[in-house]
Amino acid sequence: MKKKSCTVIDHPLVQHKLSIMRMEETPCAEFRRLLREVSMLLAYEVTRDIPLAEIDIKTPITAMKAKVIDGKKITLVSILRAGNGILDGMLELIPSARVGHIGLYRDPETLVPVEYYFKMPPDISQRDIIVVDPMLATGNSAAAAISRIKEVSPLSIKFVCLIASPEGLDVFTEAHPDVPVFTASIDQKLNEHGYIVPGLGDAGDRIYGTK
Ligand code: URA
Repeated sequence: MKKKSCTVIDHPLVQHKLSIMRMEETPCAEFRRLLREVSMLLAYEVTRDIPLAEIDIKTPITAMKAKVIDGKKITLVSILRAGNGILDGMLELIPSARVGHIGLYRDPETLVPVEYYFKMPPDISQRDIIVVDPMLATGNSAAAAISRIKEVSPLSIKFVCLIASPEGLDVFTEAHPDVPVFTASIDQKLNEHGYIVPGLGDAGDRIYGTK
């Protein structure tokens, strides 16, 4: 079994922008703009080890072998709905990435995550997947989403969030020790309502202004 891995992206630009996102007075449009910017910076880190291929090109001076990535092999998977906020920023940096979506809700009686939407690009077995969701709170829905994605056998999976709770990180890495987690912060704890403390509130509501 592979070692559990969590990378905290502590770049000053990420931390600065995240702090403004956390402030309750930050308006929706500003929150969305910052999320887009932070997501680009997270994409920069999470794609650090993706393979490069060489192609033959000509500069105005001479021919050379130049390194390129195959963006089409990268698939970004958004956990609905808040994942779409990270997705938008990452797509600006990796415009040729393919995109999948997964929607889960928690059954109020059994508390088991139930899938209501699942759509992935074709040839998933040849694709490296980056799953995105801003808040790794209880870890249950993220772990369920990864289990579902594993059923379609992608080449590799990474998970990216903005803020993780220690509890959610434990649940997630116990369930999927083979999936590296990238986050901008591991916060203090989960509260009794399942919110991350100090966190930033409900990420979906803050992105879409639904509260
Ligand atoms: N989901 C959110 O959007 N925020 C939290 O703090 C926890 C779960």
